[in-house]
Amino acid sequence: MSKQFDVIVIGGGPGGYIAAIRAAQLGFSVACIDEWKNEKGGAAPGGTCTNVGCIPSKALLQSSEHFEHAGHSFAEHGINVQGLKLDLAQMLKRKDTVVKQNNDGILYLFKKNKVTFFHGRGSFFAAVESGYQINIIGSDAEQIVTGKRIIVATGSNARALPGAEFDEEFILSNIGALALKSVPKKLGVIGAGVIGLEMGSVWRRLGSDVTVLEALPSFLGAVDDQIAKEAHKLMSKQGLSISLGVKIGTIAVNKNGVAVNYTDASGVDKKIEFDRLIISIGRVPNTTGLNAEVVGLNLDERGFVAVDEECRTNLPNVWAVGDVVRGPMLAHKAEEEGVAVAERIAGQHGHVNFNTIPWVIYTSPEIAWVGRTEQHLKADGVAYKAGTFPFMANGRARALGDTSGMVKFLADAKTDEILGVHMVGPMASELISEAVVAMEFKASAEDIARICHAHPSLSEATKEAALAVDKRALNF
Ligand code: FAD
Ligand code: NAI
Repeated sequence: MSKQFDVIVIGGGPGGYIAAIRAAQLGFSVACIDEWKNEKGGAAPGGTCTNVGCIPSKALLQSSEHFEHAGHSFAEHGINVQGLKLDLAQMLKRKDTVVKQNNDGILYLFKKNKVTFFHGRGSFFAAVESGYQINIIGSDAEQIVTGKRIIVATGSNARALPGAEFDEEFILSNIGALALKSVPKKLGVIGAGVIGLEMGSVWRRLGSDVTVLEALPSFLGAVDDQIAKEAHKLMSKQGLSISLGVKIGTIAVNKNGVAVNYTDASGVDKKIEFDRLIISIGRVPNTTGLNAEVVGLNLDERGFVAVDEECRTNLPNVWAVGDVVRGPMLAHKAEEEGVAVAERIAGQHGHVNFNTIPWVIYTSPEIAWVGRTEQHLKADGVAYKAGTFPFMANGRARALGDTSGMVKFLADAKTDEILGVHMVGPMASELISEAVVAMEFKASAEDIARICHAHPSLSEATKEAALAVDKRALNF
């Protein structure tokens, strides 16, 4: 008799491991299967996010920012650093330690919540009367387990450019980009999206000459135009060379590195040689090895597991969450879906509000937003009021020595309800939470404007931008 569970989760990234914990909290017997291996072949749950995504990228962003500050801005504070030297091996070791702490944390949480963890690949074997049989091949002997309900949370992989497969030595996905053993002199990045800008920033700060080649004619198309323009200006000033509107031609690895042929925005053919090339042009859903066909699990035309708004697949009692389904590929979106599905399985009313999912790009300054952009509102003919406040006029930002950027509020012209909040500036990743809370509670700009914010704090820029909606900012 195979082991039986109320819920089996396939994939232990933020979508899967959080779904497993929530289902266990709700009283179900739960198994989570994840195949990620660390360097020693051991279990490393946490998925892309923990192993080669959110966590290691933020560790390197922090370390590289310290390095840049020590080299460029400490002197202004009266701190003179002599003989500043990069120890990249130590920086990478620290990043690996941070990753391992997170892997171990998840294993601890599984134990605490009595989630049975299987280290291996799970694939559909058969639909049976009591649910679905899942075959596990991995660290332990091959075995079949049965789950009354299945949650698929198998995540995503980097999208390759045809003719330029990732070798992770010269042509790098996020995996190779987070593990370069030396700082490339010339680093190319194809795709000026979230990964391109974050990883481009890391290696630029550590000394690379970074060129970013982007197909679209505008910078960060999903971001509010005013914020994107400001971010473009700031990042170009820092030394990221960003070419928009390019068409990538052939890419060839040679003895010197990687040669990229492309046509620039004015139609001129160009060739550029890099020591290393990161390709960050989006990600594709990962259903490899899931054996979806054997049970008739439907994928959509783009290869995502097809689900309804509530993450139900076409099969009874089979759900799917996170990067492997439609919607933004964000860890917190995956987590929210995981919780909501576990609660729906328990007969509760799990809910994910797609209108209030925050986005953050962890460059310096950080870019963060929630809700609608000004260009969206214009396109939809919505009458709105806008208020902005620059960090330059914020006392805490001056004390920090980081006055770049601004906060921007968009509110309904009639009701004053907040429709979107956009920021580029210091700690925008933390500041955006206030806007998310406000929007969840359907607050008006005036609500934020009338709330007492600590002084001096960056959050006062949020309050002032809300005041600016009514043209009554106090400090600008
Ligand atoms: P994943 O995290 O991809 O996890 C899926 C897991 O399932 C993996 O462990 C995989 O090995 C396992 N798996 C797959 N198939 C099977 C199988 N058949 N059997 C067993 N196991 C299987 N998002 C943010 O919100 N903030 C950030 O700062 C951020 N930074 C990022 C930086 C980078 C460089 C990258 C690449 C991504 C980043 N993301 C970030 C996106 C985030 O990592 C993903 O949205 C998130 O990991 C999706 O979670 P998931 O659980 O759906 O999938
Ligand atoms: P992305 O979708 O953010 O950006 C891809 C960029 O590549 C786009 O600007 C696109 O126009 C461009 N592009 C596509 N094809 C191209 C081509 N042939 N030539 C040149 N440019 C091309 O994707 P990215 O950066 O790979 O990241 C994937 C996802 O991972 C993100 O969308 C995000 O969901 C997640 N992520 C989130 C982070 C965060 O929350 N801070 C950090 C990193 C990743």
